[in-house]
Amino acid sequence: MKVCVVGTGYVGLTTGVSLAFLGHDVTCVDLDERKVEMLRAGRSPIYEPHMEALLGEASERLSFTTDYADGVPDADVVFIAVQTPSLPDGNPDLRYLSGAAETVGQHISGDFTVVVNKSTVPIGSSNWVDSILREAFERSHGRRADGEFTVASNPEFLREGVAIFDSLYPDRIVVGSDHPRGLDVLHQLYRAVLNQTFTPPSFLPRPGEVGAVPMVSTDLASAELIKYAANAFLATKISFINEVGRLAGKVGADVTQVARGIGLDARIGPRFLEPGVGWGGSCFGKDTAALITTAEEYHHDMPIVRAAREVNRQQRSVVVDQLLGELRILKGRKIGVLGLAFKPDTDDLRDSPSVDIARQLISRGARVTLHDPVAGERFRAEQPDLAGQLADSIDEVFDDADAVVLVTKWDQYLELDWGKFAGIMRKPVLLDGRHCLDAARLERLGYRYLTTAG
Ligand code: UGA
Repeated sequence: MKVCVVGTGYVGLTTGVSLAFLGHDVTCVDLDERKVEMLRAGRSPIYEPHMEALLGEASERLSFTTDYADGVPDADVVFIAVQTPSLPDGNPDLRYLSGAAETVGQHISGDFTVVVNKSTVPIGSSNWVDSILREAFERSHGRRADGEFTVASNPEFLREGVAIFDSLYPDRIVVGSDHPRGLDVLHQLYRAVLNQTFTPPSFLPRPGEVGAVPMVSTDLASAELIKYAANAFLATKISFINEVGRLAGKVGADVTQVARGIGLDARIGPRFLEPGVGWGGSCFGKDTAALITTAEEYHHDMPIVRAAREVNRQQRSVVVDQLLGELRILKGRKIGVLGLAFKPDTDDLRDSPSVDIARQLISRGARVTLHDPVAGERFRAEQPDLAGQLADSIDEVFDDADAVVLVTKWDQYLELDWGKFAGIMRKPVLLDGRHCLDAARLERLGYRYLTTAG
């Protein structure tokens, strides 16, 4: 099939490259010429494992352009995957989406095009996109649209850092459309993933447990709500274990054992029960805020989602409180922070817990040294006032430090020579913000080992 993807951010690029790998002819449109140039040269503008390898494998069926006219007119399916950042009131900023929809509407000229909303949009936005497409079509074609296109919703569930894996081996595919032909087209588009009939890339073999992938076909509003409900549920699950973790610290229980003990109940499940500094990134914060704002429009309260957000906010201060309890005075202390990205295998710093924690420590008078194996360059550009705090090496983070906080669970950090580093700290206080290190071993090495649960 012929596919056009508008927007080459995480979602758009992963969608475009995966669909090309699966055998479709894909044109990716982005207005940013620099990005398009990079992609044409086979380089990924985002740090995402396997992205460049897949770009290479799919290159014959993949093209990049800044011009909608190169991709939209012939496409069977047009994905709109532009960014929808949060506005201060919690609503997503839909300017890019409406601009993209308008230009797509002007260029549609095929017999039947399915326009898929891949951006995370407020419930009801597909109808809004439909009306923008119609008006733009009418203006540019001089006549009303008459069945040339339909709008569908196809929320994505990919996680940064494992985006390619999630695209090829998803738990499910959700498509929402009020048009049966629209659903048929998307079913056809995803057939190879649904039936797992493609030959896996050598660098991402199909896991043994992956069988046929279920497709959930719904109306538009349900598909849109599924996306928000999934992210809100996952965010709540993390906040739940963090709330339990704080109690665990008080009663002398081990929250990781508690998580294991409850997660083995198949009704609960073990994933997203990892305690620590809580969630960050571009999705959970934005989507939970948008869900609450949408609910408010219907005079509906969402106390569980509000509480999940509040627990997550507090979780970042827990780190500062723990250090204050241990060191008594933060002013003038040297505190090392390991990890800046909001999670490993990405250089994404959006709503990163560690940036927040570093700023809180600095506002308390601490001297902070920051490290990340990948996100340093982005950090320098996005947080220039803290750039001077970046360490050139891990040694610098530990050297003469009063405490070190591990915030991002990069593999490199799990394998550090912890014994050596204890020796160069002024006080070997280690706060494991992800509950991922071996407490007994670190204590044997001389550390005072702390977590967010005590
Ligand atoms: C999340 C969802 O997992 C995806 O399904 C969804 O498609 C995506 O948002 C989106 O809406 O675009 P992502 O933000 O990439 O994906 O990352 P996650 O792996 O979900 O992690 C989010 C945050 O939660 C990270 O800061 C992570 O460290 C934290 N986390 C995760 C925990 O604190 N504990 C856990 O047990 C799991």
